[in-house]
Amino acid sequence: MKAVLINKPTNSEEIEIVETSIPVVRSGWVLVKVKAFGINHSEKLLRTFEIEKDYIKKPIIPGIECVGVIENPSDTHLKRGDKVIALMGGMGRSFNGSYAEYVLIPRKNVFTVRSELPFELLGAIPETYFTAWGSLFECLRLTKDDTLLVRGATCALGYAAIDIAKALGAKVIGTTHKREKLSLLNGCDQVVLDDGTLEGQLRANEILELVGPKTLRDSARCLYKGGIVCQTGLLGGVYTLDGFDPIKEIPNGCYLTGFFSNFPTQEIIDEMFSFFNKNRLQPSVGKIYRFKDIRRALIDIDEHKVDGKVVIKV
Ligand SMILES: NC(=O)c1ccc[n+]([C@@H]2O[C@H](COP(=O)([O-])OP(=O)(O)OC[C@H]3O[C@@H](n4cnc5c(N)ncnc54)[C@H](OP(=O)(O)O)[C@@H]3O)[C@@H](O)[C@H]2O)c1
Repeated sequence: MKAVLINKPTNSEEIEIVETSIPVVRSGWVLVKVKAFGINHSEKLLRTFEIEKDYIKKPIIPGIECVGVIENPSDTHLKRGDKVIALMGGMGRSFNGSYAEYVLIPRKNVFTVRSELPFELLGAIPETYFTAWGSLFECLRLTKDDTLLVRGATCALGYAAIDIAKALGAKVIGTTHKREKLSLLNGCDQVVLDDGTLEGQLRANEILELVGPKTLRDSARCLYKGGIVCQTGLLGGVYTLDGFDPIKEIPNGCYLTGFFSNFPTQEIIDEMFSFFNKNRLQPSVGKIYRFKDIRRALIDIDEHKVDGKVVIKV
């Protein structure tokens, strides 16, 4: 099969597709024929430096998510031809991932889906929409009567959150740090240019924080009483809250939560797809590339040439 295989720090320009063996099935693992996969920032971190850490399998096929069909269900209850999505759980890190024509995945990380979407659109969903869904509902308990602020909205996750919240009927405020990107947030009810301080400019019941700890304190000050802020993204490049004083920095009667996408379940995936199907929701996609052009796709992402989710069609 064709795959991207790396064993040392690798820039986008150095990415190559090579021939390697189709994985051999084993008990509890299923072989998926990959139809499409989304690209994630964490894969760049893996490829450029994390690859040197002991806990990363080497050589490794990167890729933390995919959509496809079951090629060989091994001893599980899945059936050959089942349409599935797969994500996380060590995929592309402790075992080979999805930048390939086939991938062998533990059964618990593979989920059946009912969707009429073509694979290249379905490929935008697993990691990005699952993260948006979990942040909005498990963490922020969003309802249609709420005002949601998506801070750092001009990213794949931001567009996904806006799609879901608008389909639900909530009011959505989106922010971007770039004036030229304001028009990309037309799907929002209100768009705000974010210079790092939003306090005093707007209020929300729920805040999806995608810029991260860099702006989290300011976000908390934008909550209505009873509001929740969910720390999900790290776009601002600051990863921790140093010297955080929860007594003074979380306003009285407000709540702080965080979302980590490592724990998908079939129940949540079913809920999510039934919402998508009922609302005829089409995922937002930045650009679709063919697998043979994956190097071009990764270079384009580095050069900020694509806005939104990049999907590779295999
Ligand atoms: N908690 C979890 O489990 C989880 C799961 C998935 C992703 N994430 C995180 O969520 C964030 C978004 O992920 P994604 O896949 O949607 O990313 P993405 O589509 O790759 O978005 C990256 C783009 O965001 C833009 N951006 C928007 N606001 C920004 C700001 N304030 N500072 C810097 N860049 C900004 C940047 O473009 P411009 O600078 O041109 O605007 C950048 O090119 C990432 O930090 C990712 O690590 C977390």
